[in-house]
Amino acid sequence: MAALDDKAQDVSSEGDSKMVEMTSPEIDEKGKDEKAGGFIIVAFIVGLIVSLIIGWILFPKLLYSKKKQPIDFNHQVHTDSVEDGCESCHYFRDDGSFSGIPKLELCIECHEEVQGEDPEEQIFVEKYVSKGKEVPWLIYSKQPPCVYFSHAPHVKLAKMDCITCHGHIGESTHSRIYEKNRITGYSRDIWGKNIAGFKKHSWDRMKMDDCSECHVKNNVNQGSVQTQKGGCFVCHH
Ligand code: HEC
Ligand code: HEC
Ligand code: HEC
Ligand code: HEC
Ligand code: HEC
Repeated sequence: MAALDDKAQDVSSEGDSKMVEMTSPEIDEKGKDEKAGGFIIVAFIVGLIVSLIIGWILFPKLLYSKKKQPIDFNHQVHTDSVEDGCESCHYFRDDGSFSGIPKLELCIECHEEVQGEDPEEQIFVEKYVSKGKEVPWLIYSKQPPCVYFSHAPHVKLAKMDCITCHGHIGESTHSRIYEKNRITGYSRDIWGKNIAGFKKHSWDRMKMDDCSECHVKNNVNQGSVQTQKGGCFVCHH
């Protein structure tokens, strides 16, 4: 030890730093382990947060392209100004088929010329009415072409409310943004807002399982589920 001490005394500041180096490895070794452990935990948490952000926020943002309706339509104003509420515009034809979104013809009754101050009405009259051009509305609930859906059994026979499947669109003052799935081309309303699949309202999504769930509950065609023989043809013709 003495020799070491002497040596230590002999050598100048360089030795001091060596001394430090000589004693520190043990402490360092421990510290490194703790630091490494800490680093792994921190890395794990950071990784988890990054994945969650990607999965929950970025992925849906990338998956869906956002589109505005060609005209921002105010449902509330219109439901108040027509005679028969919703049915003035969304009605059943004599053959039982549903009229869907009204054609320009119906709007022209009131919008032959601009009547209010609303800039949206001006755009509507200039771009569509005066040119006799139909508005290319985007349909939030549009199903793939292979799906057969008819409003008559639901609204006329089962007396279902529009809100059950569409939510509160009829009372809105602005058209909602339409989100189109870049892969399938379908509207986000079909697969739902919540990517984890939670459903708070009956109108949160309209997937095959959602249709079936209600059909089973209401024993439609003897509770025809996807898995039953012939069951597929209730909704796919
Ligand atoms: C003056 C005509 C008019 C009246 C009255 C009206 N709507 Fe509409 N409705 C429209 C037009 C135009 C659209 C397309 C624009 C849009 O989606 O905002 C539409 C779209 C909808 C949609 C969206 C369907 C989809 O999946 O894209 C629903 C649901 C709807 N209306 C329900 C109702 C209900 C419920 C009422 C009554 C409370 C009502 N509407 C009254 C004209 C009308
Ligand atoms: C029964 C009459 C009537 C019919 C039918 C009607 N509207 Fe209107 N519309 C109105 C009234 C009233 C206003 C409010 C005008 C104002 O004071 O700005 C209005 C306002 C608007 C506006 C501006 C406010 C907004 O919604 O952003 C647009 C756009 C519009 N209508 C589009 C349409 C379309 C599209 C149709 C056909 C699906 C239609 N209207 C059918 C009466 C009608
Ligand atoms: C059982 C669920 C359900 C109910 C109840 C329902 N709808 Fe729909 N609606 C749908 C589905 C699903 C579609 C898409 C149909 C398709 O893609 O062929 C649709 C489509 C529509 C469209 C767009 C159709 C088009 O092609 O122009 C309108 C408008 C609409 N519904 C309005 C209404 C109104 C108004 C009511 C209430 C009287 C109502 N719906 C009740 C499920 C429902
Ligand atoms: C909230 C409940 C509910 C939802 C959601 C629902 N349905 Fe229905 N559906 C019914 C009921 C109830 C009937 C039977 C009506 C009657 O005949 O009295 C029915 C009948 C039908 C029929 C006619 C069956 C027959 O044999 O006449 C078809 C087709 C259909 N639904 C397709 C669909 C599709 C496709 C979806 C999803 C996009 C859907 N339904 C969502 C309740 C629902
Ligand atoms: C209660 C109505 C209903 C029944 C019964 C049903 N489907 Fe569907 N199916 C739908 C709806 C609505 C969609 C579109 C939404 C989705 O992809 O979930 C769909 C979508 C599909 C698709 C994907 C098509 C595409 O373009 O994305 C396939 C494949 C399919 N169904 C097969 C079947 C088969 C096979 C059966 C019977 C074993 C069946 N379905 C029974 C309502 C139904």
